[in-house]
Amino acid sequence: MQNITGTSDIFGEALEKFVFVENTARDYFSSLGFEEIRTPIIEYQEVFTKSLGDVSDIVMHQMYSFEDKDGSQVVLRPEGTAPAVRFYIKNLQYSKPRSKIFYIGPMFRREKPQKGRYRQFHQIGCEIFGFGSGESDSYLIYIADSFLKKLGVESIALVNSIGCRVCRPRYIEQLREYTYSKDLCPDCVRRREKNPLRVLDCKIDAEKLNDAPAISDYWCEDCKYNFDKVCKYLSDFSVKFRHETKLVRGLDYYTGLVFEFYHKDDMKSAILAGGRYDFLVEFMGGKPTPACGFAMGIERLINFIQMPSRAPRGGVFIAYTEDTREFAFWLFRSMKESKDLLRQKKVIDEKYVRIVEEFTKGRLEINLDPSRGLKSQFRQADSEGYKFIFIIGMEEVSGKFISVRDLEKSEQFQISLQDFRTFLQ
Ligand code: HAM
Repeated sequence: MQNITGTSDIFGEALEKFVFVENTARDYFSSLGFEEIRTPIIEYQEVFTKSLGDVSDIVMHQMYSFEDKDGSQVVLRPEGTAPAVRFYIKNLQYSKPRSKIFYIGPMFRREKPQKGRYRQFHQIGCEIFGFGSGESDSYLIYIADSFLKKLGVESIALVNSIGCRVCRPRYIEQLREYTYSKDLCPDCVRRREKNPLRVLDCKIDAEKLNDAPAISDYWCEDCKYNFDKVCKYLSDFSVKFRHETKLVRGLDYYTGLVFEFYHKDDMKSAILAGGRYDFLVEFMGGKPTPACGFAMGIERLINFIQMPSRAPRGGVFIAYTEDTREFAFWLFRSMKESKDLLRQKKVIDEKYVRIVEEFTKGRLEINLDPSRGLKSQFRQADSEGYKFIFIIGMEEVSGKFISVRDLEKSEQFQISLQDFRTFLQ
């Protein structure tokens, strides 16, 4: 049986990277005062149709939607901003109008699967409510940049402003006029009437629109002032960025600043993207509240992450033969139940200290298949990264000692059972 196209089972090295990115994000964004939220994976469809815009790619083609048994239209969430706004309106707008929140979780878009574009993917997103200043714009881009640096990902940010309610309408008229001279795809013919900005990020028509007018030529004084201020801050913060005049982003809720981060060696798919959405809270039924945020795709990020070299070896694995299993299990149970006894016991030999530390503070495991040969048990302990193997054969039981193989130092030695018992309760 196959998994659904555009979805994947995450395991092994990829999972290690996922966990590393998620843990780093949790630590980093919490340290900046962001609070984590987990919104449901299914939402009413209107949460997205209203906010993302009905000529956005997501709403037109990519939502997994179905009718629930009560007749309501439900979708698998395609992104995290609209649910975060729904959450803010219900839970925070009065009690904590200035809030910073972050989320980590799966999103679903029925995209044409290709490298870096999946139908189930995972985002880490940050949203800031209640701040409308250029300082908050700059802060947002700065923390995105410094998070990527923390992960060792070398990136460049493309930034633009799509103007405000004062200057954008004039630009949109000019852009619509311009598109009439172009032979556009059927979707863009619809977009031209409903929201010509969307035409600029159409993957089919992009080439034909190289000479489209640029929004920056239509900015009002405030938008220009704000954008210049953000650029000045970004230079001061040593963020690598470039003004990209055609950057508009694919979702309707944006206004003012928008940005996308790319890995320096791959300008094809953004690893992180976001912007300001000052009217979305009001539009979804809340009090007027300025807001901005970003989200990054974990699948895209992990392509550029080098994990720190393998974790050091640790723990004790007990290997035994069919004849010695009862003794081995007695030893396993005694070791499992013994706590950190090092401080209470008189240390006989330095080698005991190293071993006892491994199983009281780290892992302790025993072979579960008595019919397996010792060699196969050794291989398991080695590949699973244990530091010591306790070998219990007939010779060990009758001689009242344990053979210890140190996989880190590649050496083997014996410890007396009588001495070792002083560490067991
Ligand atoms: P977005 O640009 O649609 O924006 O997605 C943000 C990031 O999610 C992308 O830059 C990319 O890394 C990742 N991503 C998107 N679609 C896929 C896919 N099909 N496969 C793999 N990765 C993908 C948003 O979602 C906005 N909610 C961002 C935002 C937050 N704006 C303000 N706050």
